[in-house]
Amino acid sequence: MNPVDRLIARFDEALRTVAGTVGTSDRASPAIGIEGRELNAQEKETAARLMRVNHCGEVCAQALYRGQALTAKSGRVAGSLNQAAREETDHLAWCEARIQELGSHVSYLNPVWYAASFAMGATAGLMGDRVNLGFVAATESEVCRHLDDHLERLPEGDDRSRSILSKMRDDEARHESNALEAGGARFPAPVKAVMRGVSKLMTRSTYWI
Ligand SMILES: [Fe+2]
Ligand SMILES: [Fe+2]
Repeated sequence: MNPVDRLIARFDEALRTVAGTVGTSDRASPAIGIEGRELNAQEKETAARLMRVNHCGEVCAQALYRGQALTAKSGRVAGSLNQAAREETDHLAWCEARIQELGSHVSYLNPVWYAASFAMGATAGLMGDRVNLGFVAATESEVCRHLDDHLERLPEGDDRSRSILSKMRDDEARHESNALEAGGARFPAPVKAVMRGVSKLMTRSTYWI
């Protein structure tokens, strides 16, 4: 692809990501074949709000990866980041489908969070490959903490959402250890605390809109 084609392809991916219209995934959703209990209206709303936050987290992950790949110092790291973004479209698709089942919508704030995450990713990339990979690891470790919290908070009996989040958690933990093994720096606690603060802004806003 020439640079213009690449730019158009990236823009198209970004639009489908924020709009919640990725649609298909390479791996079947973990929710397939899982029945769960029939949820009442209140439970459905809670589950949909939590899944909307998780979907936005995946939107941010896409933007971070793409931003990080754009400014990565080595072609090897850029390639692995772009590959990771493609693999994680599964998570987007699973969350999208579950939100639809629950009769709700993806966050209206997705474009804002995509843009902010892209900028953060590109900044991390400029700091060199060790920091760039370390940023992946630190982000994934935060995502695992967050998914543990949501696994607790999902309505009891929502086994379909729970199966999706459990699988995502396994994947994210693997991404964290892969990034560290590839040479990622271990971020100090204060840096992680700032990242946690930013992610709280995202989770609290997208829960409602
Ligand atoms: Fe993910
Ligand atoms: Fe991940």
